[in-house]
Amino acid sequence: MAEIVIVEDAQAAGELVADAVSALIARKPDAVLGLATGSTPLAVYRALADRAGSLDLGQVSGFALDEYVGLPASHPESYRSVITREVVEPLGLDPDRVHVPDGTVDTIQTAGADYERAIIAAGGIDLQILGVGTDGHIGFNEPGSSFASLTRVKTLTEQTRRDNARFFDSPDDVPMHCITQGLGTILRAEHLVMLAFGEGKAKAVAASVEGPLSAMMPGSAIQLHPHATVVIDEAAASELK
Ligand code: F6R
Repeated sequence: MAEIVIVEDAQAAGELVADAVSALIARKPDAVLGLATGSTPLAVYRALADRAGSLDLGQVSGFALDEYVGLPASHPESYRSVITREVVEPLGLDPDRVHVPDGTVDTIQTAGADYERAIIAAGGIDLQILGVGTDGHIGFNEPGSSFASLTRVKTLTEQTRRDNARFFDSPDDVPMHCITQGLGTILRAEHLVMLAFGEGKAKAVAASVEGPLSAMMPGSAIQLHPHATVVIDEAAASELK
């Protein structure tokens, strides 16, 4: 069973997870972080940016969870751009140490295996920050994803495209495909930290933490992990038994 921590709000969650990241970096200066995008982890990245002056981040590396396929890396909503804007620049990380799956169409056949090799070459992910979609996806592992899956191309569900339309000029601009770390990739990380805020996430949180293990609820994969922490506010906790 994952460890559940209920906090006042996203800011408190940000500080708590930043404490865990700071402790990890103090213990292991070349720590490898797994970086989620989306709204949920922003409080963590802001809390870490506030501490960047007192943390030695020079040897820290990062691996993003996912990327859209076919969106140029220079597009402001590509996850490469988002990670640069929200994480690399504010924390002052070495950009060469921060990796994002390559969503370029021409090389997509080999991009998944290349990403897996890069994670292994870095020594594996020490702490994986996760959000959860309203349909229970983690990374972009939509319902139906295998618990053994590795980094590969997936089709986004209509629900996820609707949820992410807020970042684009028009809902039609949201790409149809993504490349995402698999559930198997995520489960190899040393420590999983899943965050969720608001009532809209309550069902996905309850099903992930307490529901049956099911490929139809990708978040439930965290129940297979020996060290998973779930940091949520009261609203996101409201469907827990
Ligand atoms: C993004 C990712 C997704 C998001 C999820 C929740 O890298 O991995 O699983 O964490 O879609 O998104 P937000 O945080 O925007 O609600």
